[in-house]
Amino acid sequence: MVREKFMPRKILLILFTLVVGMALALFLLRHPEEEPVPEKFVEVSGAQEIVDGKHVATALVADEGMNLVIAHCTGCHSAKLITQNRFNSEGWIRVIRWMQETQNLWDLGESENTIVAYLSKHYAPAFAGRRIPLPDTEWYELKEE
Ligand code: HEC
Repeated sequence: MVREKFMPRKILLILFTLVVGMALALFLLRHPEEEPVPEKFVEVSGAQEIVDGKHVATALVADEGMNLVIAHCTGCHSAKLITQNRFNSEGWIRVIRWMQETQNLWDLGESENTIVAYLSKHYAPAFAGRRIPLPDTEWYELKEE
């Protein structure tokens, strides 16, 4: 008699546990779909990022040839060695030949023209022409004796 009294409660308890458990399982399974990983974390790797026209990882100016420079010129030393130097195209070729003769830099092949063009465009000597005329100068006249 006592048993029969408690049976429905037990069944209810089991049913309740099953329903709650299934609801919980469904919630947990659905959860990742509701919050997908933002695409930018997947697609943009920090090493490729360009901000204000400069490649963040190397500080090289973003332009045609930059990727070749990154590929050929940043394996042995920092890109800083490039960005802190200024040469015209002959100068850059001289640096490249020096590295090829003494530092085991490989033959750049067809990429050399693009690399030298990029370097001499963005890392060229600053204009060092005539000085700016002096402002507000009072000239005096030379007197003949
Ligand atoms: C195989 C290794 C290697 C590669 C690849 C390489 N370099 Fe170098 N580079 C060196 C070494 C070694 C030095 C000397 C570093 C030092 O003085 O501390 C150097 C020095 C330099 C310097 C400084 C020269 C000076 O007169 O002070 C510049 C500029 C430079 N490299 C540019 C480049 C560029 C541009 C490229 C790509 C075309 C490149 N490097 C690729 C090894 C390399």
